[in-house]
Amino acid sequence: MSAAAPEPASASAPVPVSAPAAPRYLVTGASGMLGLDLQAALAARGADVTALGRTDLDVTDASAVLRAVAGHDVVFNLAAYTKVDDAESFEDEAYDVNATGAGNVAAAARESGATLIHVSTDYVFDGSATSPYPEDAPYSPLSAYGRTKAQGERNVLHEHPSGAYVVRTAWLYGKHGSSFPKTMLKLIADRDTVSVVNDQHGQPTWTVDVATQLLRLADAARTSAAGLHSAALRSAGLGSAGLGSAGLGGPHAAPGIYHATNSGETTWFGFTQALFGELQIDPDRVQPTDSSQFVRPAPRPAYSVLGHDAWSRAGIEPLRNWGEALHAAAISGVLEKHGNASGRR
Ligand SMILES: NC(=O)c1ccc[n+]([C@@H]2O[C@H](COP(=O)([O-])OP(=O)(O)OC[C@H]3O[C@@H](n4cnc5c(N)ncnc54)[C@H](OP(=O)(O)O)[C@@H]3O)[C@@H](O)[C@H]2O)c1
Repeated sequence: MSAAAPEPASASAPVPVSAPAAPRYLVTGASGMLGLDLQAALAARGADVTALGRTDLDVTDASAVLRAVAGHDVVFNLAAYTKVDDAESFEDEAYDVNATGAGNVAAAARESGATLIHVSTDYVFDGSATSPYPEDAPYSPLSAYGRTKAQGERNVLHEHPSGAYVVRTAWLYGKHGSSFPKTMLKLIADRDTVSVVNDQHGQPTWTVDVATQLLRLADAARTSAAGLHSAALRSAGLGSAGLGSAGLGGPHAAPGIYHATNSGETTWFGFTQALFGELQIDPDRVQPTDSSQFVRPAPRPAYSVLGHDAWSRAGIEPLRNWGEALHAAAISGVLEKHGNASGRR
């Protein structure tokens, strides 16, 4: 983060104040589902961004990560091994990216004095809770993917305790990549009904809302860093020239863990009914079933609902309700219909 050299404080002379330099952002894993929407959100604010996909930067290469991170103020680490079922057979591969790679990015951010925003998952919990998981709930992953992501969080917080923000999200859908709504719409295009599990609870979450929240958090993190810097200068008997008053207002977010999921909760069955409703497909064409009918290599948490208290402590609104977000996503056109889905109402 850049700030002009501090001048000694003086009661008579006004302290010169210049606008803080515009932050330089780096996005890793930038070609993924969330990465593409984050790039769009950054472009919309005219930000100075380096967006690196896997072919540009492999986060398992520590020295390449050091070089790539240098010169940036905020790093978003979205690089991840996300094939949840494959991870059961290839846990080492998943660990390299999700745990070691995350640690590499955190160490590089620390070396560069950059804020790190690292994205993680609800799969760090086993889903045995009956009320929303607070941010500080103990780790209890059920799957290899969850284990590697939990270790990634530990590595990130250990490597860069004063500047790392772990943001857990879940049940993502959006314009890019494959997602549950796209799968449902493909299925219903070819058949009269679909059966969907009604015993897994969670928070369907629109990638656009997560991207927006990541930027709010980055702003609040920089405000906090500027405030800390200013306090350090004051306690050293120096002024805060160059930080700018804007750098000291607004939400202040402490480093640590945040939950970026849309609010409320439903099941995959409830989500599918709402999805069909948004697209004028008869919601009766989805039928409830249970997880015993859909056994997969990686066990899924039964209750993946995340609490949002950390946002209010930082003065940031949590994400809106999942139904509102789904409606907005439908209006924006990202939930495309497939084949004759609507014709079978
Ligand atoms: N999707 C969800 O429902 C969900 C839920 C909870 C949390 N999350 C988290 O959200 C974040 C973003 O996920 P997403 O849904 O956008 O997944 P995604 O579409 O799979 O994006 C992840 C990106 O990381 C890249 N990547 C893989 N290995 C890499 C490496 N060694 N170095 C650099 N990049 C690498 C992938 O490239 P390739 O495609 O070429 O492998 C991909 O572009 C991840 O941290 C994920 O754990 C997602």
